[in-house]
Amino acid sequence: MQRILVWDLPTRVGHWLMAICFLVAYVTGESEEWRLVHVWAGGTLAGIVLFRLFWGLVGSRHARFFSFVRSPGAAWHYLTGLLKGRIDHHTGHNPAGAWAILALLLLGLAAAASGWPVYQDIGGEWLEELHEGVVNAMLLVVLVHLAGVLVGSLAHKENLPRAMVTGYKLGDTGEAISGARLWAVPLLLVCAIFSAWWLSL
Ligand code: HEM
Repeated sequence: MQRILVWDLPTRVGHWLMAICFLVAYVTGESEEWRLVHVWAGGTLAGIVLFRLFWGLVGSRHARFFSFVRSPGAAWHYLTGLLKGRIDHHTGHNPAGAWAILALLLLGLAAAASGWPVYQDIGGEWLEELHEGVVNAMLLVVLVHLAGVLVGSLAHKENLPRAMVTGYKLGDTGEAISGARLWAVPLLLVCAIFSAWWLSL
């Protein structure tokens, strides 16, 4: 196996922006004073998720949902294999991580969809509680995601967070992507900013 380009730029930039937006939205959630920052962070996150759903259909090989989403059985097989010391190498996302990724994307959308009417004073207390519930569920999945990244990095003896920065992982040369897709980053940023602006009106 060699170091090959696996994650394109929109996937990497989107990932780290999403992580920052989640943190900012989470810590500003309770404060009236920081309400606009909260709405912009949540709105940006929603725009990134929308772009990621689109990119999951047309993006580079390892960013496509068809390339990494496997059955729950495959995720179970991967996890039980880890417990038994059997380490299946996946050049892209592993089948268990893939389910956490899908959950994070869906919860990111649900957080914005439940937060927007609260910001507009539509609905009542129940909607506020629903929004809080969704966000706390997302925090839980983020923690599971971080634990998975740590376990995966140790099991595969590979620094996975660094790979999400550089784009390079270990794999067969035939599995490398052909380029970083820099051209799609402006599209990601337009989606993120437009969504934040629109949701903050
Ligand atoms: C705090 C909020 C976070 C969210 C919402 C989040 C979300 C995601 C998502 C959606 C993906 C899939 C990337 C894609 O294919 O587009 C992903 C992958 C990944 N994330 Fe995060 N992430 C967060 C924080 C972090 C942090 C703090 C780290 C590093 C310490 C991290 C490390 C990674 C790595 C290494 C991958 C690739 C996993 C693999 O190799 O399969 N994430 N994350």
